[in-house]
Amino acid sequence: MKQLIIANWKAQKNTEEAKHWVETFHSIATTVPFTIAVAPSFPLIPAVSEAIESLHCYLKLAVQTLSSYPAGSYTGAVSVKNIETLAVAYAILGHSERRQYFHETHSDVAKQVEQALSENITPIVCVDKEYLVAQANVLDESSKKRCVVAYEPLAAIGSGQAEDVGTVKRIIEQIRNEYGQVPVIYGGSVSQSNIAEYLTVSDGVLVGSASLDPHTFAELVNSVA
Ligand code: PGA
Repeated sequence: MKQLIIANWKAQKNTEEAKHWVETFHSIATTVPFTIAVAPSFPLIPAVSEAIESLHCYLKLAVQTLSSYPAGSYTGAVSVKNIETLAVAYAILGHSERRQYFHETHSDVAKQVEQALSENITPIVCVDKEYLVAQANVLDESSKKRCVVAYEPLAAIGSGQAEDVGTVKRIIEQIRNEYGQVPVIYGGSVSQSNIAEYLTVSDGVLVGSASLDPHTFAELVNSVA
């Protein structure tokens, strides 16, 4: 797998801003030896997908969560069926903000992984030190091998205090002991000034704040091209 750089917009932007982001990113970013994906919230995905296609841009699409349930009577949920025609490549699952504000459990996340895999969407399972083993324990053995794991230390998310790269390297080894030789990416205050060092110890990065402005994100990508 090529190293992966994901822009997680969280619950930011409207449709016009999302389209403008793709156009601006496309006009600045150079071709890179990485896979670059963008994770808009669900209502923005059709517009982002259309912009990517019409520009022949290399960006891939990710979602920020998925329903634990298949298509059916689950009011308010977004099932894999709902997005099956939208060329979604990745699903960020079990982000700490989903666990904190929406009370998602390890078992919910395991069910989301099954849903994603049923539609050939690569799950990106977010974990922190305290529960990386507990999360691994409830994943099906064969599914675990098909995941990307994102190491996301809570204190580093949105704080400007990225975790030191030595600790990240050590925790990635622990993750591989639990999940097998899967790709592991790092997330937490990644910026243009630190991305290069995280890419030396991981299979990629998940970028929140520094992905919101298309210039900032394109420059971050160009800086490691
Ligand atoms: P941040 O967010 O880059 O703003 O710290 C990262 C994340 O939530 O994964």
